[in-house]
Amino acid sequence: MKDFEAYLSSHLPKAPSFHPHYEEAIAEMLLAGGKRFRPALLLAVVRAHNSLLVDSSYDAALAIELLHTYSLIHDDLPCMDDADLRRGKQTLHVKYDEVTAVLVGDALNTQAFEILSEAAFSDEVKVKLIRCLAKNGGLGGMVLGQAIDCHFENYPLDIEQIRILHINKTAKLIACALQMGAIISGQDILAKDLYDFGIKLGLLFQVQDDILDVTQSSEEAGKTTQNDGDKNSFVNLLGLDGTMKEADRLAEELREQLNTFDTKLYNELSPILSKYLARHK
Ligand code: IPE
Ligand code: IPE
Ligand code: MG
Ligand code: MG
Ligand code: MG
Repeated sequence: MKDFEAYLSSHLPKAPSFHPHYEEAIAEMLLAGGKRFRPALLLAVVRAHNSLLVDSSYDAALAIELLHTYSLIHDDLPCMDDADLRRGKQTLHVKYDEVTAVLVGDALNTQAFEILSEAAFSDEVKVKLIRCLAKNGGLGGMVLGQAIDCHFENYPLDIEQIRILHINKTAKLIACALQMGAIISGQDILAKDLYDFGIKLGLLFQVQDDILDVTQSSEEAGKTTQNDGDKNSFVNLLGLDGTMKEADRLAEELREQLNTFDTKLYNELSPILSKYLARHK
């Protein structure tokens, strides 16, 4: 994802205002790294199905990474998960202050849609992309998931409710990345199949993230871990062994589904997914 990193760095706000750290704070979490999982998924679908559009797709990949990064900045706030480490760095509310973290999140959220609106696609495609990101990242998607996650701390939900929570807070944005790739490539039927695959992949991603919270140190993870004690995490409901079994079950289903995709798509997605689809035991 070297190209993506270069693209991201060259698309940070250029003209500094007279605010002492606003622009620096905007850049901080974006440049701190991260796995860039969602951009990688989006670009892989375009590479498989319309490689001529890859260059124009960097804007869409950047938009989803901006929205995701905003969600992390808000997720770490004291009123949410109260975490002081993210992407190997101090979180923004610790380094600067809470108001900066809230507003940087707001700015990245809206910037994602400005970038999409200016991308080099037809207006029809742009509206589809904007709708997809808004639907999955917003009111009935990631934000709903975060609301349920925070509201039901210390209140045990059942497995079906936990599934709904994780589908909203994490899986929908991952499914959206794949679907945006299909929209750009003009593959409407594939968009639906990829979305369903992405929901399952996103669930697996969050199951594995819940495992990391208990198995990794903050230094290893680059973010505050051992932090899900009050949460409706899979580990708290199923135990570590049960959660690993659930991860294996999801990974197995995903491997089967991945095999049904055409060769080009299989070849593009496999290297990105191999780490997640490997067996746990
Ligand atoms: C963390 O997302 C939040 C979850 C949805 C589990 P990532 O694990 O993709 O975080 P970065 O982007 O690599 O920092
Ligand atoms: C957050 O889930 C998902 C988001 C929408 C950001 P977590 O709270 O488990 O993410 P981490 O573990 O802090 O990265
Ligand atoms: Mg959280
Ligand atoms: Mg968190
Ligand atoms: Mg987590």
